[in-house]
Amino acid sequence: MTRKAATLPPDYFEDKYKADIDPWRFRSSAYEQEKYQATLSSLSRRRYANALEVGCSIGVLTRLLSARCAHLLAIDTSVTALEAARSVNDSNVSFRRATLPADFPDGPFDLIVLSEVLYYFAKPDLQLIAQSCRAQIAPDGEIVLCHWLGETDYPLTGIDASELFAEFIKPALPVRAILHDETYRLERFSAA
Ligand SMILES: C[S@@+](CC[C@H](N)C(=O)[O-])C[C@H]1O[C@@H](n2cnc3c(N)ncnc32)[C@H](O)[C@@H]1O
Repeated sequence: MTRKAATLPPDYFEDKYKADIDPWRFRSSAYEQEKYQATLSSLSRRRYANALEVGCSIGVLTRLLSARCAHLLAIDTSVTALEAARSVNDSNVSFRRATLPADFPDGPFDLIVLSEVLYYFAKPDLQLIAQSCRAQIAPDGEIVLCHWLGETDYPLTGIDASELFAEFIKPALPVRAILHDETYRLERFSAA
């Protein structure tokens, strides 16, 4: 499979959601449900004051995360996905259309979740996102990443996206815990 060289553009995702509002079967797949529970278990605290979810899609993981947050900002580049996400989420979640790396929101956030999103970016854009995470994470905050490890034509593999992000985030959040590394990699970065 030939890997795409550039960051995937917003239209790639908008077209996907217009053709099928749940293209990855987030609502019905047992695999996704198991992975979401593992993601919730990876959080080191019971509650977060101000969290950010990058690439929230149709809001399935958003809904689960929001139960652990006083406030959750959920962003995505797709207007169609955001419309679906808004209809199933509670008032402690704010949704915003934002296309990374340019539109990274202002924190500070005590939790940033990037689940199944970083491999859509080429390396320079992933570096910009990691820099924004460093700038917007609270001193005692944590960042959770999740990546499917199968073969794709995305700009980065799950492993490459994970390793590059780890390299760029290390000066700010040197403690890395890899919590699941089979089929998907689930990991958490923190300062201590
Ligand atoms: C595979 S879905 C992941 C959904 C969710 N995080 C999960 O794990 O269930 C990836 C999402 O990232 C969004 N996305 C892709 N590129 C983006 C960008 N440059 N800025 C913001 N969101 C983006 C897509 O629209 C899509 O909804």
